[in-house]
Amino acid sequence: MTNLSEMLKETTSFLKEKGIKEVEFGLILGSGLGELADEIEDAIAIPFAEIPHFAVSAVVGHAGKLVYGTLSGRKVLAMQGRFHYYEGHSMQTVTYPVRMMAAIGAHSIIVTNAAGGVNESFTPGNLMLITDHINFTGDNPLIGENDDEMGPRFPDMSHAYTPEYAEIARKVAKAQDVLLQEGVYMGYSGPTYETPAEIRMSRVMGADAVGMSTVSEVIVAAHSGLKVLGISCITNLAAGMQSSLNHAEVVETTERVKGQFKELVKATLAE
Ligand code: HPA
Repeated sequence: MTNLSEMLKETTSFLKEKGIKEVEFGLILGSGLGELADEIEDAIAIPFAEIPHFAVSAVVGHAGKLVYGTLSGRKVLAMQGRFHYYEGHSMQTVTYPVRMMAAIGAHSIIVTNAAGGVNESFTPGNLMLITDHINFTGDNPLIGENDDEMGPRFPDMSHAYTPEYAEIARKVAKAQDVLLQEGVYMGYSGPTYETPAEIRMSRVMGADAVGMSTVSEVIVAAHSGLKVLGISCITNLAAGMQSSLNHAEVVETTERVKGQFKELVKATLAE
């Protein structure tokens, strides 16, 4: 048995003792989007700091706890906050919660994030269905020895964002009369925002949005055989498309659209 599977055993045993048994969907809630976890019924909340082999996260707008319970009739395990590569964590640490979700029995994850809009037809406050990604972080969580019990050495990324879930989200958005943009998320390491030249490059390369998370988590989800729904909140136009960028604006925008975001995710879960 690998070190990783031993660690996962310790983590999942701990969580099961806390009453986390059946899990269908893992939720990873990005900057300013963590409030969705407050709507989970019969909630069991556990701070990351108490969970064996979890790191701690300290970014403003990331609460840093795991919340289990029922949402839209589904058993969910939500990460209120996540670990970022730019905090100095390894890719393995960043993606450990996804491994944990697969190990505890989730069949799917919903990943969300705040992102900068690269597509010129996007407006801050838009929600974007992630149809694909570009891993531009310069790293990959699967580098190193492969544990064949976790997944294949060379995972297929052709359908990393499950088309069936994308279709459900489109249908739900339409029914709710919510504009749901869609496109390719390009993941940078951060913590700097991109330069205007990098954004022009991203657009040429086919990105519609840029951010500092998600791609490594989705790589591990694909490796683990988890289905994925990805939703970005376009909090700002990317560098060079507006006068300057700051984290306060990112938080303000998520604050403004979190209602819409929560309704979209809840109704999509129900479907
Ligand atoms: N770039 C990278 N990450 C982000 C942005 C951005 O413009 N906005 C929110 N997260």
